[in-house]
Parts: sequence; C-alpha cells; structure tokens
Amino acid sequence: MANAITGLFVTLEGGEGAGKSVQAGALCARLRAAGVNAITTREPGGTPLGERLRAILLGLSNEHAELAPLSEALLFMAARAELVAAVIRPALARGELVICDRFSDSTRAYQGYGKGMDLSVIDELNAIATGGLAPDVVVLLDLPPDVGLSRRPPEGNSDRFGRENIAFHERVRAGYRALAAQDPDRWFVVDASRPRDAIADAICVCIEQELSRRSPA
Ligand code: TYD
Repeated sequence: MANAITGLFVTLEGGEGAGKSVQAGALCARLRAAGVNAITTREPGGTPLGERLRAILLGLSNEHAELAPLSEALLFMAARAELVAAVIRPALARGELVICDRFSDSTRAYQGYGKGMDLSVIDELNAIATGGLAPDVVVLLDLPPDVGLSRRPPEGNSDRFGRENIAFHERVRAGYRALAAQDPDRWFVVDASRPRDAIADAICVCIEQELSRRSPA
C-alpha cells in the first residue's frame, strides 16, 4: 500500500446497520499498519459540541423528541462545521488520511431523499458548513434496509432514525445509490450484505486504488 499520502479525506456512508463504524475502525487499523497516518471520526459527533448535538439529534433523551426538519438539518450542519474546523481540516493540513463515519452525503440521503427536504437547500447549507470541503472518496456500504435493521440489536434501532418506517429507509437507500451513480469517480459502492472481512477487503481495495491513482509508483 502506498504510504506517502498527503491529506486524503474518505467518508463512509450507508443506511442503518451497514457496519460503517466497525469498518471505519478496521480500515484505520489496516492503513496504520501499512504506515499511513490515518484517523477516524464520526458524525454527528467527533467534538464536544458535536457529541452534545448527537444526543439531541438521535433523540436519546425524551427532551427534543420532535424536531422541525429545518432545525434538525441546521443542527447536523452545526456539528459538521465544528468537526471540519476542529478536527478534519487540521488533520488534512498535517497530511493525514481522515476517515469519517458519515458526512455531508448523510444529510442529502436522510433529510433530502428520506424526508423530502429540498436538495439544493441542503447543498447550500453543506457548502457553508464545510467551507466547500468535500470528501475525496465516498464509500457507500449498500444494504437492503430490512437486512440492516434486523442486524442491529433492538436498542440499536431505538434512536429517532432507527424508528422511522421501512419506506423511509428504502428512500434513503435509493437516494444513496442515486448520488453514487451521479458521481462514479468519487463514490465506491460496496455490497455490505457480505461477511465483515470481505467488506473490509473491498473497502481497502477502493482506498488502495485511490492512493495509487494519486501517487503512481
Ligand atoms: P449513527 O448511530 O451514527 O448511525 P449508524 O449507527 O446507523 O451509522 O446515527 C446517526 C443517525 O443520524 C443515523 O440514523 C443517520 C442520521 N443522520 C442524518 O439523518 N443526517 C445526517 O446528516 C447525519 C450525519 C446523520
């Protein structure tokens, strides 16, 4: 694996139970073993502010159980702006490879395709929140929602999005696939119905491909 990279930004996207956080950790460990300076972070979260917003957004307490669509989107954006400023940009500036479990495409898939919020408004808000920072590589862990939801322990589906109906999750999946199809140079679609190690191998192949494209031997 190429080990001299400068600032690559990789995001993992997908529906519920696709295994993104496990895969983010596995990818980071493999990259570090190969000598790449890699870090992982997540959305919403990854900063003290982001983690507090996460609790509100996921409805983990009974407080704020209902949120208007625009306020929900703006809270995701606030968490994102903080993560970009405090974690992602500094790490990229140090030449690190940043793996982020969800990023701006989650808002496009969930609030846009899932909840019907205008995608052009979401794109404008994303541009403001990120200062124009977009992932170099997006790995979509693609999985039928019924499989994803059934993989999670019952308490894993108890957050505000896990409680949405199957039609919502189908729209999110279709949205992700549409986004991937619109931008095939940046998006890699990985079949997440396979065993964990096979998924990890497939993700590594995507990243190796991108690294060698950037620094041909
Ligand atoms: P998380 O536990 O990270 O999701 P998962 O375990 O499924 O990876 O919870 C994040 C939830 O927030 C998830 O249901 C997707 C949702 N979400 C949005 O709706 N919009 C967003 O912009 C982001 C970042 C997440």
